[in-house]
Amino acid sequence: MKILAVLAMLSLPAAAGVRHLADRSLFVLETERTSYVVGVNESKQVQLVYWGAKVADSDLSAARRSGGFAFENSDGMSAEEYAGFGGLRFVEPALKATFADGVRDVVLRYVSHEIKGETLEIRVKDIERALDVSLVYTAYPAQDIIKRSARITNRTPGKVVLESAQSATWHVPQGRYRLSYLTGRWAGETNLVREPVNPGKKILESRRGNTSHQFNPWFALDESATETAGNVWFGALGWSGNWKIVVERTPNDATQVTGGYNDFDFAYPLAAGESLETPPFYGGFSGAGFGAASRLMHRFERSQLAPDRAAPKPRPVLYNSWEATEFHVTEEGQKALATKAAKLGVELFVMDDGWFGARDHDRAGLGDWFVNKKKFPNGLKPLISHVQSLGMKFGIWVEPEMINPDSDLYRAHPDWVIHFPGRPRTETRNQLILNMAREDVKEHIFKVLDALLTENDIAFIKWDMNRHVTEPGWPAVAPSEQRKIWVQYVRNVYEIIDRLRAKHPKLEIESCSGGGGRVDYGILTRVDQVWTSDNTEAFDRLKIQEGFSFAYSPKVMMDWVTDVPNMNGRVTPLAYRFHVAMQGSLGIGGDLNKWPEQDLGLAAKMVELYKSIRGTVQEGELYRLHSPREGALTANFYVSPDGKRGVLFAFLDHQQFRRMLPPLSLKGLDAKASYRVRSFDKKLMGSKETQSGAWLMNRGLDLRLGGDYDSTVVVFERIEP
Ligand code: DGJ
Repeated sequence: MKILAVLAMLSLPAAAGVRHLADRSLFVLETERTSYVVGVNESKQVQLVYWGAKVADSDLSAARRSGGFAFENSDGMSAEEYAGFGGLRFVEPALKATFADGVRDVVLRYVSHEIKGETLEIRVKDIERALDVSLVYTAYPAQDIIKRSARITNRTPGKVVLESAQSATWHVPQGRYRLSYLTGRWAGETNLVREPVNPGKKILESRRGNTSHQFNPWFALDESATETAGNVWFGALGWSGNWKIVVERTPNDATQVTGGYNDFDFAYPLAAGESLETPPFYGGFSGAGFGAASRLMHRFERSQLAPDRAAPKPRPVLYNSWEATEFHVTEEGQKALATKAAKLGVELFVMDDGWFGARDHDRAGLGDWFVNKKKFPNGLKPLISHVQSLGMKFGIWVEPEMINPDSDLYRAHPDWVIHFPGRPRTETRNQLILNMAREDVKEHIFKVLDALLTENDIAFIKWDMNRHVTEPGWPAVAPSEQRKIWVQYVRNVYEIIDRLRAKHPKLEIESCSGGGGRVDYGILTRVDQVWTSDNTEAFDRLKIQEGFSFAYSPKVMMDWVTDVPNMNGRVTPLAYRFHVAMQGSLGIGGDLNKWPEQDLGLAAKMVELYKSIRGTVQEGELYRLHSPREGALTANFYVSPDGKRGVLFAFLDHQQFRRMLPPLSLKGLDAKASYRVRSFDKKLMGSKETQSGAWLMNRGLDLRLGGDYDSTVVVFERIEP
């Protein structure tokens, strides 16, 4: 008490954390720069009271009284944190359920709460029946992020069928918002879209069984923010299956975002005593624009989600064989590529598709995870030893959830695939999907992957998934249980990854789904990196990578340098391709057998440079200076966590009318410090070797970029006084 009084006198903010203000029935989740305040009103409704820049407890009033108008519900008046479908409510519900007797009315009221460290659990319950929900909140003070999820427990004697089970509803202050989200397609993922939030609902979702290329479970809301200023509320779901985020503006001008399991084709029966846990939904607030919001997310991912969060490790430079050899892998061919890759400074050699079963093309072999003896007569060991003798680690591609009808596994277990009996089993890329929700399938896949990793010294797997779910039947269980497939499938994939990592602690994993189809905060707690897109064409990549960076950190963004022309016929210089790929975790994916000596020489230099800056790129703070959506110049600047180093990447698509580029001002430096400026390609004009942070941020650099697809990288080192 005394300490608090002293703090108040000094007008210092109270320490970040979770506290209960019993006098006003409020819970305050405080982070370094934000307050998230939940209240319980006189009707025991749990409401959001405030979410935004940090405020003092003394400013906070109790939750609103419940309203009740003839034709309106209390939308925007009560801002319920987790509304059931029941009573006078017409907004998107967080929970919808049918009880055994057919009642479909759920009205949730506060029962109790518990605070443990940074976690608050509020227990709510239906007004009449024993359907309980625990609303779980965790504050991450340093990153201004709140994690929310719900655990729904059926304590009635009969079955309850959940028809919608959302993780959370987020409310923003009344206003006119703009929504930012990521959309795309195969080979064109994570394009940033911005549009006004008008009355009605905007649904972002996946109904495809995984996260999807089409929409990514991230959103941001702002009224008038820019990259560098203004209020931004943002959120990301941690789920790699069917998900849904509903952005709703009610005719009363209240804006709320509800997200969790997709309720499309959803019916999750809970027997007496059973619970369902929703995926986590992470929300955050930045008062300093979109750039700061992304940096909070990047820091959060690296420090709280990533498998190496306790002791961060640099991501290795990798080589991947896919674009060079496709299915035509052989021991000799891979050895030759490995020898060349090692000379470039590659640290991890990954053999992609084609090494197993009858996998000479995409029509056969998936499911048969044993080494193809024609291609590898002595198994994988000779190749692995060769790779290791060159000082690299060995990685391998797998697609465990998939099966070709032309495979031994399918011939033995045609019933293991997702299907409805007597109905078509639609193939895409000639493959069907194993029903990972089944115990026997899950155990089989764990066993074969475990054997592969036990028998061979494999440091890394690229876990691919090349199609989406159709005809989602699970005939082995009762019809009333079959829709659980959407949830159980993903849980079992997660379980296999978790068990493999526990049993093979040095294993690292890349999540891939035909490119960036499985990138989300659920998979990112389990994998070290993700494959951003099958589109490796560098100019296209600038946009894909920019969108990606709004939600996900450069460290997990795997980028390859590949051959040209690629995908769309464009030919870009090798240096440009390297510079684009060096903005995340660098990989090389071209056919090194075809690279002339000159290119191999340049590549080796680029890899060396990358290794010297990767600490800043992978662990640093990203400032998006010029967006590829807005003009011919793209520029990104990374500052190391200790502020001692900076790395600038700049790209010019094309030069028109011999226009001079405007000076490029940097961000995130210390104005008072001096920096040594290092350019490698004479593309800096008039800069001195040493410049002050103030000059670099206020006047900026003159870049000599011209022609088509020009680029440069400039490195800054703070000179210690
Ligand atoms: C899709 C992936 O995105 C590619 O990188 C490659 O691994 C192929 N699958 C292999 O089939």
